[in-house]
Amino acid sequence: MIPFFLNDRIIIGDNMNIIDIIDKKRIGNNLSKEEIQFVVDNYLNDFISDCQMSALLMAICINGMNEEETINLTNCMLNSGDTIDLSKINEIKIDKHSTGGIGDKTTLIIAPLVAACGVKVAKMSGRGLGYTGGTIDKLESIPNFNVNIENNDFIKQVNDLGVCICYAKKTLVPADKKIYALRDVTGTVNSIPLIASSIMSKKLASGCDKIVIDLKVGNGAFMKNLDDARILANLMIKIGENNNKEVICVLSNMNQPLGNTIGNSLEVKEAIETLLGKGPKDLTELSIILATHMVALGKNIDIESANKLVKEKLNDMSAYKKFLEFVKIQNGDLNKCKITAKGIQVLSCKEGYINKIDSETLGEISMRLGAGRNNIYDSIDYSAGIIMNKKIGDYVKKNELLATLYTNKDIDNIILDVINCYEIDNESKELEPLIYEVIK
Ligand code: URA
Repeated sequence: MIPFFLNDRIIIGDNMNIIDIIDKKRIGNNLSKEEIQFVVDNYLNDFISDCQMSALLMAICINGMNEEETINLTNCMLNSGDTIDLSKINEIKIDKHSTGGIGDKTTLIIAPLVAACGVKVAKMSGRGLGYTGGTIDKLESIPNFNVNIENNDFIKQVNDLGVCICYAKKTLVPADKKIYALRDVTGTVNSIPLIASSIMSKKLASGCDKIVIDLKVGNGAFMKNLDDARILANLMIKIGENNNKEVICVLSNMNQPLGNTIGNSLEVKEAIETLLGKGPKDLTELSIILATHMVALGKNIDIESANKLVKEKLNDMSAYKKFLEFVKIQNGDLNKCKITAKGIQVLSCKEGYINKIDSETLGEISMRLGAGRNNIYDSIDYSAGIIMNKKIGDYVKKNELLATLYTNKDIDNIILDVINCYEIDNESKELEPLIYEVIK
């Protein structure tokens, strides 16, 4: 049906118009399935303007959406573009998603590890925006690594090698691409129904059977507290159920960056060290836990057996060998991976225990160093980033190395900004767990 305009209002069929829909959400009423469909279709086709959509998104941020509205929004976004048919991969296909964290390179470890356990990993991923890095950026920091893979080749690689990670094409959930870009510049990212529908529409469109979600909680994550994280987890599980997909959420700690590195090439190097059994404890532990849930789902076995298999494949180097094969088949050249940026040492001004790290600010600093994008058109300096020489619970002496920054830029006040991210006291506080809980 061709929309027509009356005083800037679009009128289609049943006399729906965007201004009434914004008004309805502004006063806290629920939107019908037809109204949500109307918004998604007409925003995607440019009949609803960015300013009208921003107003509606802000009304959703403030007044929320109930479960039914969120499921309807997810389904409308899911159907806004292509969906991938993975039925030519005979076995159960597992996907893994992280809600976004700092220093989160687990996918680089888990994907080959789970494949080494005999479970098919078919993952379409995105580039990072803001301070949370994207898996595709990390992979592209390996010279020549090819992330643009056609669907048939994607299926073939998953069948042959057991793992493929490629860039999610523009035609996959185009509604989310357009809405997310607007949310990013209008302060409307942080809304539980908008996050749930954004993540789940993409996961459902990419055709996997079962999904493990690493739901980050803490000062470097969208979810700052456990109560909100539980609501988001249950909502994503409900959306999965509604689409006959099993979803498991692992609530993990993001009150400090994961592992010891932030920034693309540095993170690839750390992922390789972890596959070689020499990685940091938190990164190794979280990777094993997420891989265990993926293997349990993929093989329909209990958690203990899955955990045993995962540790075996990590320890006997099968996961590392699978990683090398995966990089080779996607054309990457690990020999050419180099950190070319200059290093700047950050020394502690104080002695004591590190009790708190402002992860979000450290993430923003890594962006300023060149490791992330401010907007989708920014390019990334793959060798920029941060090595964290101290983490929460560590004791630091005055003038001891806190962190090393890597950058090709000259940036004022950066050292002081880094120092201000660390809270150092005479006494140590109790350490928080790495995993808060698993929700199924
Ligand atoms: N990740 C997404 O894909 N979407 C969101 O809205 C937030 C995190």
